[in-house]
Formats: sequence, structure tokens, C-alpha cells
Amino acid sequence: MFSEFTEIPAQQCWKDTLIQHVQLPSFLLLYNNTSILMMRSTVTFYLCYLLCLALGLACVACVCVWNSRWRGGFAWDGSGLQFNWHPVLMVTGLVVLYGYGAVVYRVPLTWGQNKLPWKLLHAALMLGSLIMSILGLCAVFAVHNAKNTPNLYSLHSWIGITAIILFALQWGVGFAGFLLPCSPVLLRKLLKPVHVWLGGSILLLTTAACISGINEKLFFVLKGNVTYSSLPPEGLLGNSLGVLIIAFGLVVLKILSNIKWQRPDSRPGEIAYTVSV
Ligand code: HEM
Repeated sequence: MFSEFTEIPAQQCWKDTLIQHVQLPSFLLLYNNTSILMMRSTVTFYLCYLLCLALGLACVACVCVWNSRWRGGFAWDGSGLQFNWHPVLMVTGLVVLYGYGAVVYRVPLTWGQNKLPWKLLHAALMLGSLIMSILGLCAVFAVHNAKNTPNLYSLHSWIGITAIILFALQWGVGFAGFLLPCSPVLLRKLLKPVHVWLGGSILLLTTAACISGINEKLFFVLKGNVTYSSLPPEGLLGNSLGVLIIAFGLVVLKILSNIKWQRPDSRPGEIAYTVSV
């Protein structure tokens, strides 16, 4: 029996002590270890998820304040005010809504439920994101055409248009492959890794488009008396928006890349994978 006189080597761990002296079956400790690890993983997930939600809201607040307070607000009349819809719609739709939609399946609370409603929510959030990005494109094209500014000349516009084209293709193929009941299981199985990889890549492209767009806009507007290099409040806000967008993208990618946070029936090698992809 384990008494206060028993000598325990200093480096012996508490588990060995319990097995030897209290005769606790080792599988119980193993079970305990597994549930502690699972609990830790779930708590870490929810911390990351809360951070993701908070960073997304901060991005939307920042881009709205920038364009309403410093850029004069919004209109839809071909003037400079119409341009202001472009960053707001792109950041809200193509970054934040897209990121929220991408992590929908990872929330452990949804794992015990039928996958179909979550698939529909994922597709609806992505469709909302796509519609907002097309409206955001219309805003900037209309302003360029009204002012006879050439279209698609900058690196920013090349990265941005590539992201939107890939996203539109991804949505169409994803809808046909994963939501139409007639699509064969083999096709879904082949499509899934490409869909996941392309989803992450589109997020990287949209983050790059936002950073280059913010930088370009700050160089366009901060000249004359108040230069970007003097880091006026508007420059500080624009830079902060960029940092928030990068942080949001990194948290979303962290959530997507952790295999333990994947819905169990979607993990590679799961038997249920073939029926509920
Ligand atoms: C995912 C996000 C974004 C995408 C996909 C995107 C895409 C585009 C595209 C395709 C154009 C070219 C339009 C034309 O040629 O008529 C453009 C223009 C522009 N965008 Fe963005 N954009 C994004 C975010 C932003 C953000 C956050 C800003 C910040 C203010 C911004 C600033 C600009 C500016 C200043 C232009 C006009 C100059 C140019 O054509 O490069 N964009 N954007």
C-alpha cells in the first residue's frame, strides 16, 4: 500500500506511481489521457474559432470606418464614392464571409448532426460571398469606365480577378459535385482533396489581393501635404486593416489544416467518408 513512508524516486512520474502503488489498471489512465487530449483539442478549437469570429468582425468594422470616415462614404453613381463599396464588399464578402463559410464543418457541436443542413449553410455562405465580390467588382469597373481609367492593369487587379474566377469555378464544381444527388460517390471522393486545397489557395489569393489593394489605395490618396510616409491616422488604419486581414487568414488556415478538427466522417480513411462527403 502507498503510505507516507514509501520512497518514490524524484523523477518517477505520477502515472507509474498510481499503477504500482494503487494498482490502477493502466487502460484507465490511457482512457483519461485520451479524453484530456480530446478536451484540450476542443477547447483550443473554440478559442481559435472565437478569435476567427472576432478578427472577422474587426476587419469589417475597420474597412467600413475607413471608407465612411476618411473616404467620404458611399454612393452608386459612378463617382469616387461608388469605389468605396469595392474594399467594403471585397473584405466583407471575399475574406470574412468566405472564411466563416470555410470553417463551418469544423465546429464540433455540428458533428453529431446530419451533414446536409451544414452543407447547405456552407454553400449559401459561399454564394453570398461570391455575390458580394461580383458587386464589389461591378463597383470598381463602373468607376474606371466612368473616368476612362484602363481596366485590369495592376498586379492587384490580376491577383484579384484570378481569385474571383477560381472562386466562381470552385463554387460551380462544388455545387455540382457535392450537392446534386446524381453526382457519383467516386467523383465526390476525387473532388474533395482538390476542393479543400483550392479553398485554402483562394483564401491566400484574396488576402494577397486585399494587401496589395490597400497599399495601392493608400499610395493613391496619401500624397501632397499628408504623405503615406508620415504615417497619418488614415495610413495607420489602412495598415491595421491589412494586419487584421492577414491574422484572420492565418487563423482560418490554422483551423482548416488541423486534422483533429475535421468532421469525423470527413477524415481521410474513414469508412463513412464515402457516403457523406
Ligand atoms: C479579395 C479582395 C479584392 C479583390 C478580388 C479585388 C479585385 C480588384 C480588381 C479585379 C480590380 C480591377 C478593376 C478594374 O480594372 O476596373 C481592382 C481594382 C482596385 N482595387 Fe481591388 N480587390 C480586392 C480588394 C481591395 C481592397 C481591400 C482594396 C483597398 C482599398 C482595393 C483597392 C483597389 C483599387 C485602388 C483599385 C483600382 C486600381 C486598380 O485597378 O488596381 N481592392 N480590385
